[in-house]
Amino acid sequence: MDSFRIRGGQRLKGKIEISGSKNSALPILAACLLADGKTTLKGVPRLSDIDSMQKLIGELGCHVYRHEPAAAERRAAGAGPDLPSLNGPLDIEARDESKSEARYDIVKTMRASICVLGPLLAKRGKAIVSIPGGCAIGDRPVDLHVRGLQKLGAEFRTEGGNIVGEVRGRLKGCRMYLGGAQGPTVLGTINVLCAAVLAEGETVLVGAACEPEVVDCAEMLNKMGARIKGHGTPEIRIEGVDKLVGVEHRIIPDRIEVGTFMIAAAITNGELELKNCNLDHLIAVQDRLDEVGVKIQRQNGTIFASSTRRLNTVEMTTQPYPGFPTDLQAQLMALLCLGDGMSVITERIFPDRFLHVGELNRMGARIRKEGPTAIIQGVKELQGASVMASDLRASAALVLAGLVAKGTTQIDRVYHIDRGYEKIEQKLAAVGADIERVKEKH
Ligand code: EPU
Repeated sequence: MDSFRIRGGQRLKGKIEISGSKNSALPILAACLLADGKTTLKGVPRLSDIDSMQKLIGELGCHVYRHEPAAAERRAAGAGPDLPSLNGPLDIEARDESKSEARYDIVKTMRASICVLGPLLAKRGKAIVSIPGGCAIGDRPVDLHVRGLQKLGAEFRTEGGNIVGEVRGRLKGCRMYLGGAQGPTVLGTINVLCAAVLAEGETVLVGAACEPEVVDCAEMLNKMGARIKGHGTPEIRIEGVDKLVGVEHRIIPDRIEVGTFMIAAAITNGELELKNCNLDHLIAVQDRLDEVGVKIQRQNGTIFASSTRRLNTVEMTTQPYPGFPTDLQAQLMALLCLGDGMSVITERIFPDRFLHVGELNRMGARIRKEGPTAIIQGVKELQGASVMASDLRASAALVLAGLVAKGTTQIDRVYHIDRGYEKIEQKLAAVGADIERVKEKH
């Protein structure tokens, strides 16, 4: 397994190009199962989770082809990291509709595999999807996905660790409440939405997730011929149609990657220019970072993030969109470790998502956990240490801490970070970080 070696203390300065959103691309790839003909997706990042989803829809009869960028474009980009804009478009076409099974092998590596459930039921009338187990950030049930699809008329049973779903005839639209104990569900909303687009009659999803990734998927479905209104609000209305056709679509920028690099600028007292961003998707993050003292400015699709040394303390609670995202909780915590006093972070989406606390404390942080809350007493400096990546965003927090820590930080198991950050070490090295990937010796 590869690791990262980071020598902390470099001030980051320069430009970083933001990749397309992982969490938008994953369900959108699954939604391509719904269309007749070829869909071309632009801005799909090169990540191991994307490889897993490509493999999954490939097994489900899709032809998937990644175009390579033209040699001339590569030459024009010159040396340095492979820019995300050089990622060729991805063509997806469902050619064989006879298969309906998402195997445990793939599902266990990537929970987003559950996104094929709705599209398979709507298009093929049958779905067998291995039940995703727990994961590092808590046990993540899929009951809301199943309940929503049941309300549309699908029938379910569990068999040998699989969810087996079937539809007699056609799904039927209805009005339903989709929220759960922790609020709305992002992938659950997308799953039910993807099924409702081909259902008979009108579906109204009340308590729907409002995340930009839901909106992105709905917009692609509308281009394909779906009739969806209200996406981006808690009430989505869907008028079922008979068929969808392949289209061209560009994935939105990865707001979590943007937030991570804004924090990288702040923690290193640096100055970063982030290209291909949508700051509207980060309003709560901007609000908290403002309070911490990070300077954030926008100019069209570019964000300038910088900070002076002093970091104020803040209180923050993760919330569904437009609130502060759980996917940036760990990274903000890394920053607040160096705050001028005591900060408080409460995790409301995944109350157990605190694996980074122990590792940050090994680097000299002073964080105390009390239930779903972490109390962070700012320290003057962090020290390099050997630490372990445990989940994607916790790993990003360790990278951020390593960038500013005194001495060398070794982060093991960086495959977690490769799942969701495209070439993070190349992007950081290009703006001055002293970071290298240490390949596992075989
Ligand atoms: N929940 C249920 N039942 C369900 C579904 C969800 O109780 O059937 C609960 C969850 O346990 C959680 C809450 O509802 O407490 C919200 O979970 P949600 O369903 O919204 O999460 P998700 O859709 O499975 C996506 C992202 C996560 C991100 C969350 C929250 C993808 C591939 N994953 O997961 O991203 O944290 O939304 O915003 O889009 C990451 O990228 O690191 C990541 C974990």
